[in-house]
Amino acid sequence: MKPRVFSGIRPSGRLHIGNYFGAIKSWLKLQDEADCIFAVVDYHGLTTPFDPKEMFKEKYEVILDYLAVGVDPKKSALVIQSDLPEHTELGWILGTITPVSILERVPTFKEKVAQHPEYVNLGLLSYPVLMAADILIYKSNIVPVGEDQLPHIELAREIAKRFNRIFGKTFPLPKAVLSSGARVMSLYDPSKKMSKTGGEGILLSDSPEEIWKKLQPAVTDPARKRISDSGNPDVCNIYSLHKLVSSADEIKEINGNCRGAKFGCLDCKKILAKNLGMEFEDFRRKRKVFESNPEKVKEILKNGAEKARELAQKTLREVRKKTGLDI
Ligand code: TRP
Repeated sequence: MKPRVFSGIRPSGRLHIGNYFGAIKSWLKLQDEADCIFAVVDYHGLTTPFDPKEMFKEKYEVILDYLAVGVDPKKSALVIQSDLPEHTELGWILGTITPVSILERVPTFKEKVAQHPEYVNLGLLSYPVLMAADILIYKSNIVPVGEDQLPHIELAREIAKRFNRIFGKTFPLPKAVLSSGARVMSLYDPSKKMSKTGGEGILLSDSPEEIWKKLQPAVTDPARKRISDSGNPDVCNIYSLHKLVSSADEIKEINGNCRGAKFGCLDCKKILAKNLGMEFEDFRRKRKVFESNPEKVKEILKNGAEKARELAQKTLREVRKKTGLDI
């Protein structure tokens, strides 16, 4: 039997290159080796401030991105989390065996509390419990995620272990797999991860012109003030982006030109803009095809939900029996 893979992404608008190189690229590889379910986790999207008028559109954008980037509905189930309320039922049950003290120590919880001190809700605290339910309801073995999600996967394993110990062996312990390890940093503050907020992320759907516009003001080696200064690619965020999309020969040349003060940062960015534009050319074309075919997208989501629902309900029946809710 193929291993089961589950991963989810929040419905906060279109995907950027950080999402792609940080997570999605590795998902796509898994489609041939594993039985994958990929979700837009809209219940999770309610835990931080959001605009109800934008919610539906935002999650639809992510679905279009998923399809265009290569999630193949013939191989994988593509689902919207809230189409499967089974997740929340399991989340509730798992919540009853999860100590609050553990949840209060989760790093992302502490970050979100600092970010939105006026928005500390119960859903935010139990976010990792619902995430554990997302994973465990399909008895998933593998969860491809970015590094920041590792504490959540660890917690999902703890919850699975605890459930198995109390109610009898039910869940396999899910393993996180990190994608190629690329951590894409913010263009304007490279000490932070690239994020969807603030319009600073390079979206997969950005046109070459938009990419170029975003790259021009991006931070490079801060010590390099003028073209005649020699630059240090090792501390340059633009150089790390080159490593993701440029050819080995180009990278070598760029490195030499930067250290040797043979070209300026804008010249270097121009090459990056061209290569990023090319990398996602096929993506932009496919996205337009799905955009103009909403019936087809609806059908894909319906099929995905049907497949997922069958698995989810099977697990829930087992859980309801084991906990004594059903006989
Ligand atoms: N917490 C994840 C994030 O912010 C999203 C997520 C929700 C998820 N449920 C999941 C990821 C289950 C993997 C598996 O990116």
